[in-house]
Amino acid sequence: MTLKDIAKASGVDVSTVSRSLSGSYGIHKETRERVLAIAAQLDYRPNRIAKGLATGRSHTLALIVSDIRNPFFADIARGAEDAAFGANCDLVLCNSDLDPQKQVHYIQSLQEKRVDGILMNSVGSLDRVQQEFLSSTGIPVVLLNRPRSESNFSTVTPDNAGGGFMAGSRLVELGHRRIVHLTGPREDSNLRERARGFLRSMTGREDVAPTVLHGDHTFAGGYEMMQAALAADPNITAVFAGNDVVAFGAVRAVIEAGLRVPDDISIIGFDDVDLATVIHPPLTTVHQPKYETGHIAVEMLLTMAERQGPPIAEHRVLEVELIERQSCAPPRRPA
Ligand code: RIB
Repeated sequence: MTLKDIAKASGVDVSTVSRSLSGSYGIHKETRERVLAIAAQLDYRPNRIAKGLATGRSHTLALIVSDIRNPFFADIARGAEDAAFGANCDLVLCNSDLDPQKQVHYIQSLQEKRVDGILMNSVGSLDRVQQEFLSSTGIPVVLLNRPRSESNFSTVTPDNAGGGFMAGSRLVELGHRRIVHLTGPREDSNLRERARGFLRSMTGREDVAPTVLHGDHTFAGGYEMMQAALAADPNITAVFAGNDVVAFGAVRAVIEAGLRVPDDISIIGFDDVDLATVIHPPLTTVHQPKYETGHIAVEMLLTMAERQGPPIAEHRVLEVELIERQSCAPPRRPA
């Protein structure tokens, strides 16, 4: 069913049908109503691809995350999708594994599909040429959870350094002195910020001995880093994990070592995913507004897409909050 068919059935020309359907000015109310009624009767569905070629908008957005299996990204995706749906856009999901080849492949493919904008959790693994290629596509980009200093793209990020500071301060306040921070790769600027805030909370405290271990930012990574931390220093009494899934892996390693959380080792996570309330003991963690991050990022993308012309970078920092559950307590073991 095409515009021509509707024009024939309603006795007007194709341009009048097109303007009636798009709600343009200058069409008599009765004509518009007649055209809309006939379009509905004929079960007319607009050809979005043809329309996209004419308007330059595909009403499709893309979300490139490292791995949707981290529940953090599920919340981000839900917020992004709800915002996209509200704006009559579809959202395409891509997992990059932070592999630069895969990221560039997706960016090229999404450019060919004329997406209106891309949300990405990082460009940290792209080299300068690859980042310039991304800029040169002219597609609006919003980075999730990255500090504004990382690139020229727009960003929506929680206060990562503030969250690290809250976690470190709480552990010191409880009396912990041998504290380990289990985190991901050094290139991840959001994680570097968390580590910076954590270490800042102990500045000038000569009685506190913080250490930082890097590994995979996953459940398995948390498990392995915790085993390594206990092997290196069996007297540690507290852990700040770079995210909740790392914390879950650390809890497992602590239990397998015959120790208890929080009696022997206190653990704080970061993200506040739903599972944090389900594990035993429920995890004390830094809450970041994940759903809101996805929602706001899509709103920013849509504004950029409508503005036309070269994208102008915008930056939003969202507040975080320490959520106290039951995985932290004062140390019982000697410091
Ligand atoms: O690497 C994924 C992590 O980075 C998430 O868990 C979240 O903390 C994000 O900042």
